[in-house]
Amino acid sequence: MTVRIAPEGRAFLNVGCGDTYFQEWNNCDLLPGRDVVPHDLRRPLPYAAGVFDAVYCSHVLEHLNPGDGAALLREMFRVLKPGGVCRLVVPDLEAICRLYLQYLDEAARDSAPEKIRRYDWMVLELLDQMVRETRGGLMRQALDRGEFDEALARNRVGDHFDKIRPGSEPIRLKSNRSDIPGGADRLDEGVGNRLRRRWARLRLWFTSRSNDPRSTGETHRWMYDRLSLTRVMAKAGFARCSVKSFDESDIPHWDKYNLDVSKYGQRPRKPDSLYVEGTRPEVQP
Ligand SMILES: C[S@@+](CC[C@H](N)C(=O)[O-])C[C@H]1O[C@@H](n2cnc3c(N)ncnc32)[C@H](O)[C@@H]1O
Repeated sequence: MTVRIAPEGRAFLNVGCGDTYFQEWNNCDLLPGRDVVPHDLRRPLPYAAGVFDAVYCSHVLEHLNPGDGAALLREMFRVLKPGGVCRLVVPDLEAICRLYLQYLDEAARDSAPEKIRRYDWMVLELLDQMVRETRGGLMRQALDRGEFDEALARNRVGDHFDKIRPGSEPIRLKSNRSDIPGGADRLDEGVGNRLRRRWARLRLWFTSRSNDPRSTGETHRWMYDRLSLTRVMAKAGFARCSVKSFDESDIPHWDKYNLDVSKYGQRPRKPDSLYVEGTRPEVQP
């Protein structure tokens, strides 16, 4: 597959990009889109070895079983240049568990409705996306019915919350990121890619008609904390694995390409996240 080079002369890859990406990057996802190559990440990445300066993968690993997740990390390692950076973003299992225990204690001491709602929300965060059998699951039902604590849900869900309950804040970020209105422009992606994309979308339409979230990549199959994620990265060969914040990265030009900043201001796009980066060593041990 041809690799797109960004204006700075670097090649970047966004793996499982969803609808948040830059058109000057290389983007792939199960769900095809404009500037997005359709690809099932349970298969090897469709790129040659050692071609990318950075690989970014946000809220995707938890959708793969641990074996497929480890294989994807090895693939990300393979396609990176020596010295290239891998940035992984996942829902932070540790933070979810700590909040769950905190709200459990509070609700068990005092069953005021707002305390029960906060407790209920954390149970949903922990379990719903793993066990749901219909799209959106119990979390969508709670949101539709207004059965949630507004401040907690907003703080946990981030930009997606503003998307499903629009009109809350003006859009402030100026960027050509695809999730920002007026962001990505149309690129000429070529006839071959356009046909592949249409075919993949048609196939997905048939499978997702079953309303089964397991067929569309929606279900969570595993979760990670700062220890398990750095360990699985080190096992794939990455060096200097460490936890970052949403606005800190070793990816070149991150101030321009920050995929983790909210479009509403200088705060995380997905506040429930854990950010970990590792580097492909210059010299193989
Ligand atoms: C929660 S979304 C995250 C999207 C985006 N990276 C972000 O941070 O907003 C998970 C994405 O993983 C993709 N995905 C899940 N399983 C996949 C698979 N087996 N192959 C490719 N993409 C997959 C989904 O299509 C979806 O776009």
